[in-house]
Amino acid sequence: MNVFHRETGSAGDVLHVESVPVPDIVQSVGSPVYVYSRAYFENRYRSLTAAFADCGKDSRVCYAVKANSNLSVLRLFNDLGAGFDIVSAGELMRVMAAGGDPARVVFSGVGKTVEEMDLALKAGIDCFNVESAAELTRLEARAGLLERPARVAFRINPDVDAATHPYISTGLKENKFGVPAETALSLYETARASEWLTPVGVACHIGSQIETMEPMLEALARLLDLVDTLAGRGVELEHLDMGGGFGVTYDREVEFDIAAYGQRVQAALQGRPLTLSVEPGRYLVANGGILVSRVEYLKPAGEPGGPQFAVVDAAMNDLIRPALYQAWHGIEPVCEPGEGAISGRWDVVGPVCESGDFLARDRPLTLAPGDLVAVHSAGAYAMAQSSNYNSRPRPAEVLVDGSDFEVIRRRETIEDLYRHEQAGAAGRRS
Ligand code: LLP
Repeated sequence: MNVFHRETGSAGDVLHVESVPVPDIVQSVGSPVYVYSRAYFENRYRSLTAAFADCGKDSRVCYAVKANSNLSVLRLFNDLGAGFDIVSAGELMRVMAAGGDPARVVFSGVGKTVEEMDLALKAGIDCFNVESAAELTRLEARAGLLERPARVAFRINPDVDAATHPYISTGLKENKFGVPAETALSLYETARASEWLTPVGVACHIGSQIETMEPMLEALARLLDLVDTLAGRGVELEHLDMGGGFGVTYDREVEFDIAAYGQRVQAALQGRPLTLSVEPGRYLVANGGILVSRVEYLKPAGEPGGPQFAVVDAAMNDLIRPALYQAWHGIEPVCEPGEGAISGRWDVVGPVCESGDFLARDRPLTLAPGDLVAVHSAGAYAMAQSSNYNSRPRPAEVLVDGSDFEVIRRRETIEDLYRHEQAGAAGRRS
């Protein structure tokens, strides 16, 4: 089902999300606004669980909270039975606020603080994905002090090239993540010898927006070697966490073939009594969201072939992916063009004072001031990476369910932006 589709009615040809015309949302909530589809999220979750259903002894999906951490999105995945991959105390608190069970949480990340460990230990999370010897030392100390045992997995850096953007590649030895398999062997021994730690798993995550399964299968082979070596030394692991990273289609990328990958993983795991975990973020949510924005001004080319700018009311602070990763996001007008529309190739830019502030470049579009545009693939790493740069309040978030929609985060007010500041100290010296 295509949840984002056009329907022709009395208002002409209009973009809908499920059964809701996008202009209805903007009329009630304003622009810019992120709009998500519940049906899309649910379908994607089901296709993932189906792909891994026969893998290992059991399988589980731990949604990577960082991709879209709205409480309603977390509750939706929790109700579908998902666990969660978190990387901060903030993400753990969000999961719990959404009604998620800490016993289904795995904690990744290279820089877990004492406070974060303590919170996770007291909450009773399922597993810490430990990324260094120093982190293990700290975790053991905190677990002992609080008298809260911890289950641990080590995140292995398998040194494989995920062939993705360098900023989101994480499985090469020059990346800060994980430990080499050889180092991990002694860390498992340390964990086994500890009164407070139990080594239960092995983990990896080699990058994000990965298009082909080969790098992941290579990583899997290295992890299974380690699992077997450990078994030979009497350390029997319960689970193997292959991370997230499944690529989606933004433009012409071939979508990651999750079903085929599931079959290959199943074949590779055969005979081992391991639970398979995956930690997808983008795959579940990216193409389930749009960012809707209004054209404020058009700046047509001053000379033939010159640059033309459509200035819209969303900006790099709302969707930083084009500026940060040179990412391409689809963009389409929500309605038929308004009066005075101009056809051409447009750079769709925001009001932020940087030339890096663009959402799309050189796109063939017919636009008039006041028209709405929808920027696609804004369900992942859009709101989650937004900021208040230029003192811009963050947009509202809306979740569509059939013919209903609900505001799941209200638009920020300008007062929200300086609520925690004070102007008191300035001027005291005079
Ligand atoms: N697990 C771990 C340990 C991770 O670090 C990540 C993502 C995931 C799972 C989920 O990866 P996914 O399935 O979403 O690819 N901001 C970037 C993506 C950064 C990904 C960081 N880690 C972007 O907008 O492309």
